[in-house]
Amino acid sequence: MEKYEYFSGTPEVGIVPRAPHAGPLLRHVYEQEHGRGGFAGKVSHTYHLYPPTNWLPGESRHLPDWAPAWDSPLRPIGGLHHLLGVAPPEPARDVYRGLGRVVANATAAMNVTAPRAPMDYFFEHHSATMVFFVHEGRGTLETTFGPIEYGKGDFLIVPKGVTHRFELGSGRHYYWMYESFAGDPEKAEAPTTGQFITHSRSDYRFPRSLDTRNESGRFEIVSKVDATYTRRVHPTHPFDVIGWRGEYLPYKFAVEDVRPLVADRSHVPPSGHTIFKLPGAYLCVFTVRSVEKEAMWVPFFHKNLDYLETLGYHFGDFFSAGGVVGPGMVTLHPVGLPHGPKPRSLQAFMDGANAGVHNEVGIMADFANPTRVSEWALGLSRPDYMSAWSGYTSDPRFTYAPGRLAEVRALGERLADARDALRPPTDD
Ligand SMILES: [Fe+2]
Repeated sequence: MEKYEYFSGTPEVGIVPRAPHAGPLLRHVYEQEHGRGGFAGKVSHTYHLYPPTNWLPGESRHLPDWAPAWDSPLRPIGGLHHLLGVAPPEPARDVYRGLGRVVANATAAMNVTAPRAPMDYFFEHHSATMVFFVHEGRGTLETTFGPIEYGKGDFLIVPKGVTHRFELGSGRHYYWMYESFAGDPEKAEAPTTGQFITHSRSDYRFPRSLDTRNESGRFEIVSKVDATYTRRVHPTHPFDVIGWRGEYLPYKFAVEDVRPLVADRSHVPPSGHTIFKLPGAYLCVFTVRSVEKEAMWVPFFHKNLDYLETLGYHFGDFFSAGGVVGPGMVTLHPVGLPHGPKPRSLQAFMDGANAGVHNEVGIMADFANPTRVSEWALGLSRPDYMSAWSGYTSDPRFTYAPGRLAEVRALGERLADARDALRPPTDD
């Protein structure tokens, strides 16, 4: 070893040449570039035992109706809120053939899958980078860059074009999957809170162990471009990589590593809980955190005037949901339509309750207008979700009273000088 050691300027694993496209090793192994932005963007190089284009002649073909629910027709959602039940697992369905589209706009989409069957093929998404959230299940995501073990509560980021397959562990599986068609998800951070809230790049876990396969056989790779699926068959295992270098990589990120922004004296809006931004969408994590001490601890009634909101319920009490949703369910709140706390949670807040901790994890993904809902998702819609707010028309506390205006005027006068308890001392 030399006296001093150095980091390379670019992550690398295994056997790689001295630099991309350079060095005598390239006369013995096969370099493949994964290049974004027309070879001017993010890039990685993989070094293979066999040429990546060694598909068997005469075996490539399109696969009609390969994942019908993924390509379920879309239609306008209109002015109704929806609560989607958990999709039932189907014995014959694997991760991708069992995917169901939920909503989509021009640049992003949300899907769910409840896989039961193993993948007997490898998959490449040629139209999108995918973000999985593992609501339930565990296993190994095998990729060109090495395996990634995952479990409940992990995000898995599978960049566009990366060859991979899911090896499912035992037990039930339920994943939400977000597609980004026009760019990779970028870590959200605000100048006011810096790089380490609500998470740090050091929380990302990239593969570092290669599991190189020198195997012959029939290895099927299915690729997707829009709604067209194509199969090709290779005579050698696609994970014949002996080294890689670059920054265009799959990775995982555990939801427990989200360290949320909290405020004692104000309600932190969803923008304070955003973890990823992608073209036409953003992803937020509402995780276990302290309840606001003095501020509203239920969400304010709101109209999201530019985005349709999806909220996947992962764990907990779901403080704003008022007991109508369960784990695994997803709500859809269309652009512009008001919503907010269900009556039970607002009652609790108005009565002065404060649980101390929001014991919940919810994954919110909001999609820029116009966003449409799939017919498949509408088949999961529970009837009467709009009635979840019906307490506002029946509980006397919320309904018409002749003396209401005078009562609120008197309250306004009485509370005009009310101050926070957590505040600097004043002279008066
Ligand atoms: Fe909302």
